[in-house]
Amino acid sequence: IRRIGVLTSGGDCAGLNAVIRAVTHRAVGSYGWKVLGILDGTLGLMDRPLRYTEMDLDLFSGRDLLRAGGTVLGTVNKGDPFAFPMPDGKVVDRSLDFVDGFHRLELDGLVVIGGDGSMRILKQLCDKGSIGMVGVPKTIDNDVEATEYAVGFSTAVNVVTEALDRLQATAASHHRVMILEVMGRDAGHIAVNAGIAGGADVILVPELPYSLEGIAQRIRKVQAEGRSHALIVVAEGVKTLGGEAATVSHSGGQTRYGGIGAYLSERIAEATGTETRVTILGHVQRGGVPSMRDRLLASAFGVHAVDLIAQRRFGRMVAWQNRGVIDVPLEEVCVGPRCLEPHGPLLNAARGLGIYVGEVPP
Ligand code: F6P
Repeated sequence: IRRIGVLTSGGDCAGLNAVIRAVTHRAVGSYGWKVLGILDGTLGLMDRPLRYTEMDLDLFSGRDLLRAGGTVLGTVNKGDPFAFPMPDGKVVDRSLDFVDGFHRLELDGLVVIGGDGSMRILKQLCDKGSIGMVGVPKTIDNDVEATEYAVGFSTAVNVVTEALDRLQATAASHHRVMILEVMGRDAGHIAVNAGIAGGADVILVPELPYSLEGIAQRIRKVQAEGRSHALIVVAEGVKTLGGEAATVSHSGGQTRYGGIGAYLSERIAEATGTETRVTILGHVQRGGVPSMRDRLLASAFGVHAVDLIAQRRFGRMVAWQNRGVIDVPLEEVCVGPRCLEPHGPLLNAARGLGIYVGEVPP
């Protein structure tokens, strides 16, 4: 191994730069390899001329990548080489361009930092045979299979928890029900983790059906106990009562009914006679300084990913399980997204606290 690449793929999150930093430190500092940072995800390898930048340890003296949010390499959401959307609307297979780009740069390995979708693409590319790659899981949604944590999740949960702390004060002052819409397209990990930590009364997740009566009952109980305000956390992927998606497109923030938060706000005001307000946190959850846990995870993942390349153990993803970093074959990852178990420990804990989390499945 002499030269490797690193790229970030899909939606950004806090901690990506910390992974890039760790990869460079391990590869350049420990192994003496060259590291090329591929720009704008898969595009950097598909575009001609190729787009990349050489990473070296000096880069870190002026730019504090451990602490910086976002990704210095840039990223794109719509960069699937197998189904690439062209400007004229056609979808084409550009995977050969990607593989050719890899060879032109004379890479011996590539670290791909991505979410559930990116890991699928990674597996497809690995299956083509001629390029060696390893994955590092990142996503604020924390829905990548085979890892307990993905980079970015912890920071997002901290942001949501802080938002609930702030909303609680204003909710109490005005005797209102505050609805906080958070990210989480397929899975409610952010909602349930931050909802418990932030003292929510209702937590709605895409995995469980809910009823207006269930929500109203919880609010009436809170009021009967002498508290005139309540906090509700709802994941963006939660459907309307009629089963329709409230968010039509996740890219560009197009919504129906103004999103699920706004939809519920009206229904809950009608059902309870209480004043409601809605806050959509959106991309605030993705930016900012990474938490301690995300920095640790990113650093340990980055080192392990480079070690995998050194051993030529390609087609694997680094993962966090049982208090440590391990690696798993991509086949184990590509069965996701990893969703909440209806009777898993966190939803049960929420129920134990009296939080309404939707209808209890049989
Ligand atoms: O998958 C991560 C995520 O943050 C989702 O929770 C959200 O639906 C989506 O990305 C938004 O992506 P974008 O607005 O960047 O297209």
